[in-house]
Amino acid sequence: MTFYDLILKRRTIRRFKEKKIPYQILERCVNAARLAPSVANLQPCEYLIIDGEDLLDQVFPTLGWAGYISDGTPPPAEAPTAYIIVLINKEIKAPKYRYDVGFGVENMLLTALEEGIGSCCFASIDRDRLRKNLNIPQKYVIDLVVALGYPNEAPVEEKLKESVKYWKDEHGVLHVPKRELKSILHRNIIASH
Ligand SMILES: Cc1cc2nc3c(=O)[nH]c(=O)nc-3n(C[C@H](O)[C@H](O)[C@H](O)COP(=O)(O)O)c2cc1C
Repeated sequence: MTFYDLILKRRTIRRFKEKKIPYQILERCVNAARLAPSVANLQPCEYLIIDGEDLLDQVFPTLGWAGYISDGTPPPAEAPTAYIIVLINKEIKAPKYRYDVGFGVENMLLTALEEGIGSCCFASIDRDRLRKNLNIPQKYVIDLVVALGYPNEAPVEEKLKESVKYWKDEHGVLHVPKRELKSILHRNIIASH
């Protein structure tokens, strides 16, 4: 599969198999994030891998799953088998750190996918609870959580018609509306409609 094929294939996964991810793969994901572009090369991001059985349960309830659908939260048997928490080291003054997070996390998601691992990013996090549960020092901003695991669902891309809201069909397949290329691509001038 080419790199471009991986990009086309990636969909957010929220249902996972009960199969552990080898630690070396998680470390590889972090290494891919580490090497991403960084504003002024300040590199304020650090990464906390959670793959200990008891600690997984400390992360899961702090996450807000799939706000657009009613059955977005996976049952315990389909919960993620690892998390990578993106932390910002406040001692490195990097006000534009969100660019770094975006570049780094996409590297991470695609590196995981190359190994057959699905992922879901979380900005909806009960950060106070997560900090307490994992004893994360105040010197870190908890920016994003990436949930990982071997996929137990196969969401599909859909042409966006009226709404950006993803939905599940009668077979439980998640459909994810995406704006069409022609509606977002401009060449040389922005044509008036
Ligand atoms: C920065 C960011 C934060 C997100 N936060 C959440 C979240 O809190 N909960 C969730 O279920 N999905 C979250 N997502 C996943 C999006 O819902 C998902 O990317 C979007 O529906 C498009 O689907 P796709 O990733 O399959 O293209 C987040 C995605 C991004 C990029």
